[in-house]
Amino acid sequence: MAIPFITAEEAASYINNKDVVGFSGFTPAGSVKVTPLAIAERAKREHEKGNPFKIGVITGASTGDSLDGALARADAVLFRTPYQSNKDLRELINTGRAEYFDSHLSSVGPSIRYGFLGKINWAIVEACDVNENGEIVITTGVGISPTICKVADRIIIELNHYHPKSLRGIHDIHVQLDPPYRREIPIYKPSDRAGTETIKVDPSKIVGIIETNLPDEVKGFSKTDAVTDMIGQNVADFLTREIAKNRIPSSFLPIQSGVGNIANAVLGALGNNKAIPEFEMYTEVIQDSVIGLMQQGRIRFASGCSLTVSKDVLKQVYDDLPFFHDRLILRPQEISNSPEVARRLGIISINTALEADIFGNVNSSQVMGSRMMNGIGGSGDFTRNAYISIFTCPSVAKGGKISAFVPMVSHTDHSEHSVQVLITEQGIADLRAKSPKAKMEEIINNCVHPDYKQILRDYVNKTGVESHTPTALAAAFGMHLSYERKGDMRETDWQEYGI
Ligand code: COA
Repeated sequence: MAIPFITAEEAASYINNKDVVGFSGFTPAGSVKVTPLAIAERAKREHEKGNPFKIGVITGASTGDSLDGALARADAVLFRTPYQSNKDLRELINTGRAEYFDSHLSSVGPSIRYGFLGKINWAIVEACDVNENGEIVITTGVGISPTICKVADRIIIELNHYHPKSLRGIHDIHVQLDPPYRREIPIYKPSDRAGTETIKVDPSKIVGIIETNLPDEVKGFSKTDAVTDMIGQNVADFLTREIAKNRIPSSFLPIQSGVGNIANAVLGALGNNKAIPEFEMYTEVIQDSVIGLMQQGRIRFASGCSLTVSKDVLKQVYDDLPFFHDRLILRPQEISNSPEVARRLGIISINTALEADIFGNVNSSQVMGSRMMNGIGGSGDFTRNAYISIFTCPSVAKGGKISAFVPMVSHTDHSEHSVQVLITEQGIADLRAKSPKAKMEEIINNCVHPDYKQILRDYVNKTGVESHTPTALAAAFGMHLSYERKGDMRETDWQEYGI
């Protein structure tokens, strides 16, 4: 039976209040673009009539504004998981109007299959090709699409002609069996393939196909600046020293690089540093800088979950697709971020911290401990299992009013047991094989901004440095409180906090 073509409005009319919808994509790459807009319009109409209308939203990671932004502005989000980065959705979450739970991205697909997230009514998935046998070729982000297509009662497909059908072959769709039948993932180098080119579903589950022709809503990345260039230089210096000391093989190891402006800039600086050998990536998000470095021959191969590149860069990829077919693989997030594979390959993880404390605990997700920024993303999947785990960040934020280094992080995503190296534009803190007190010295001496060194030294001196992890509980959040009360952490007066 032929699969019918439908409109986004028809699709939205099938979705009921409280339905749980799994959406395709990973970042704006591969996110559906017209159905969520139509669902948002439907929600607004229902709200005007006084009817409740909210849906549960499960995605691979962040999405485009047409999904998270539109649903948030329509107040149509019952719950949302996992990573998000849309300002309107963030506002909804941080004002308690949408339930949000964060999760390691490698765990989302398995958690859905285990039933931990309840019933999934719909999978709404972007494809560049689909046939009547139920073979779906997805687009630029794989995310959780194989799992949601498997478990959802019904499937809606956005067939997006912006993406060429010849993307087929760039994906490696491998989904693990669940315990007690799980086996090892047969990936021994980033270019290994373990699965199929398409997602195969029961075609009778596909309710309809909506045709579109729309680019991914990836925003451009900020230009590099002196601070990010210096961080990148410091990362390169650290890694070249490790190679010279034979602690990293001279053939080098696969790099995992985080999301966002800082990670994009740092990877660019690292790749352009000729002291670093050509390398491969086993990572989550393939951002703009990877494509440029691939064209220059600096990156030989990249395995990821999404091709999150700006419009111009995607055009370069599509104009030269055979070149990139040989150098890129896109996988489901449970494979791109697999702890098993990360540990086997010995990846070097480089992620971004919002703040770290003087003992090396890292907060990547919650501003001042309470306001959700984006989420933990895949940073935990990689950090805990890396050969060497690195976190980078500028030493200060908000024009110097916030220090990235504080006595105690206001939320912990990565504990000091997993974080091995911290790098800022000021320098490198190598935390390996060091006690908390030695880590503290390394961090204050090498990573902290000069404006904050004495403030942190005063804190440490007043806590009683003879203890194992010098901490004054009443003052540990003194710098955060000083920012909230006086607008500047440099105004911290420890006497106000009893030390
Ligand atoms: N307190 C408050 N705000 C802070 C802060 C702190 N300690 N440190 C940074 N910020 C602010 C910055 O000022 C900036 O805000 P602004 O844009 O209003 O000025 C914002 O946080 C960071 O944005 P940006 O500088 O553009 O950084 P980014 O795009 O590189 O994102 C993270 C940084 C940490 C938010 C991002 O990397 C992230 O979400 N990480 C968690 C998930 C992850 O690591 N995934 C990768 C796994 S593969």
